[in-house]
Amino acid sequence: MSASDVEKSWDSLLRVREAVGLCEEPAGQCYFRLETENGRSAVSIGRPFRSSAHSGPVVAVLLDPEIPVPPASRADAVFSIQDLIRVRTIRAGGLPRPVLRLFGTYLPYAFSSMHARRLGRAFAVSHLAQSLDGRIATLAGDSKRIGGPKNLVHAHRMRALSDGVIIGSRTLRRDQPRLTVRYVEGRQPARIVLASSPEGLVALTSVEGGDVYLLGSDGSSAPPGVNVVPLHGADGLIPTSEILRELMARGIRSVYIEGGALTASRFLGEGNVDVLQVHISPLILGSGLSSFRLPPVPDVASSLRLAYHAFTPVDDGMMVVGTIARPDDPKGAS
Ligand SMILES: NC(=O)c1ccc[n+]([C@@H]2O[C@H](COP(=O)([O-])OP(=O)(O)OC[C@H]3O[C@@H](n4cnc5c(N)ncnc54)[C@H](OP(=O)(O)O)[C@@H]3O)[C@@H](O)[C@H]2O)c1
Repeated sequence: MSASDVEKSWDSLLRVREAVGLCEEPAGQCYFRLETENGRSAVSIGRPFRSSAHSGPVVAVLLDPEIPVPPASRADAVFSIQDLIRVRTIRAGGLPRPVLRLFGTYLPYAFSSMHARRLGRAFAVSHLAQSLDGRIATLAGDSKRIGGPKNLVHAHRMRALSDGVIIGSRTLRRDQPRLTVRYVEGRQPARIVLASSPEGLVALTSVEGGDVYLLGSDGSSAPPGVNVVPLHGADGLIPTSEILRELMARGIRSVYIEGGALTASRFLGEGNVDVLQVHISPLILGSGLSSFRLPPVPDVASSLRLAYHAFTPVDDGMMVVGTIARPDDPKGAS
C-alpha cells in the first residue's frame, strides 16, 4: 500500500456503508477489498468472496461473535465489532497503523443502517466538543475552536458516514454552520434543523450541500428548497423517538447530532442516543453553557452511565466515545 493508504481505506469504508445500506437483511459478516484493478473496492455482505482473482488485501468484518474467524486464505485482515462500537483487530494483515486506527474508529458507523432497521428508527450518534469544565460555549455563545482541526476532520468523517446531521435552532442562528462534508471525501448528509420557526435557514439553503429539513414548524415562511416536517410536542419540543422514526420513514437511517446542549440533552434524556462522542479540550472556560441539561438525579448511582467506552487522543485533547447504558443493562449498574 502507498502513502494514500488512509484515503483508499476511507474510500473502501464509504463503499461498505453504501453496500450495507442496500442490504435488507441483517448480516453477521462483511468482506471488502482495499484495492482492485479499477480502483474501486468490492464489498460482499453476509459471505466471503467466492474467488480471490482480484488484487488488493481482503478485509473481513465479523459482526456476530458466533461466526468463526476466516483463515488467512480468505481474509488478510480481520476485525470484529461488538457492543456497537468496540472494534477488535483479530488479524492486522500487514495494514499500516494509520489504516488500523481509521478502521478502529470508523468501521462501526458503516453498519448504522443495519442497526436502524433493527431499532425501527434512525441510528443516532451525538457529538459535542467541550472544555475541561464541561462547557460547550461561553456565556455569550461562542463555541468556535473548542475542538481543534483534527476534531473538525473527525466531524466531517462522521457527517460523511451519516445520512443526516441534526442541530437545534440556536446553534443554527449562533454558528450559521454549513453542515457539509468538506475536509474528507464523501456524500453530503441531509441537514436537519429542529426549530419552531424557519429563521436562519438561509445559512443552509444558500450553500450547496445535502437536502435541508425543518422539523417542528409549519414552515409557512421557510425559504425555497426546505423540506418542512410539521411535528409538535406537548412542551413545545418534539419527542426525539418521533424525530428518529420520522427520519427513518424518509430514508434517513443514521443521524449525527451536532448540538447544541438542549438538542443533545433531549435525545440523551429520552434514551435516543446510541453512541455518544464527547471531545474534551484542555481548556477551562470557568462559566458558559453546560454540555448537558438533564433532570436532577438524587445520587451518583442514579446518573446516566456509559455501558462501553473508549478514549481516543485527538489533537491536544481526547474524545470519549461510548454507548449508553440502559437502566436494565447490568454493565451500567456497577
Ligand atoms: N461545542 C460544541 O460542540 C457545540 C456544538 C453545537 C452548538 N454549540 C453551541 O451551543 C449553543 C446553542 O445550544 P443551545 O443548547 O442553547 O440550543 P440548541 O440545542 O442549539 O437549540 C435549541 C433549540 O432547538 C430546538 N429544539 C431542540 N430540540 C428540539 C426538539 N426535540 N423538538 C423541537 N425543537 C427542538 C428548539 O428550537 P425553538 O426554540 O425554535 O423551538 C430549541 O429551543 C451555541 O452557543 C452554539 O455555539 C456548541
